[in-house]
Amino acid sequence: MRKKILVIHGPNLNLLGQRETDVYGTASLESINRELRREAGDLEAELESYQSNHEGALVDRIQEASGKVDFIIMNPAAYTHSSVALRDALQAVQIPFIEVHLSNIYGREEFRQNSLIAPVALGQICGLGPLGYKLALRAALEYLGRGKEAAGL
Ligand code: DQA
Repeated sequence: MRKKILVIHGPNLNLLGQRETDVYGTASLESINRELRREAGDLEAELESYQSNHEGALVDRIQEASGKVDFIIMNPAAYTHSSVALRDALQAVQIPFIEVHLSNIYGREEFRQNSLIAPVALGQICGLGPLGYKLALRAALEYLGRGKEAAGL
């Protein structure tokens, strides 16, 4: 059975490639999603991506994933630092997930150094740019394929 992976991108990530390129790089969201889909195909998994600038829409997408998705990879963007609603949604659906950030949030402004989401995530990858999503995909499939203990997670 092909594993189903959902990648969720939070607010302003639709502007990737144009927005603060010194911090977030020059890759567009479309190209990141395209590469991830290709990579997932090579690894015999199904990957769908979703982006929204709206907290409620992100909550809805997480709720919809319940029972349909095996793993979530999520960059909650600015909501990382503020959203109890996203954290609750992720916890409610009980789908394992990895939090990804393009930038190293711990080397930036103090308000970015706290994630409300990370404590309920399987893990967090930050500071590696778009590579972080690919690593999260590999970790997700390893985790799903071999179980948490065998994957050494
Ligand atoms: C981000 C880091 C957040 O602090 C910021 O609000 C973003 C992007 C990242 O990928 O580095 O929008 O999540």
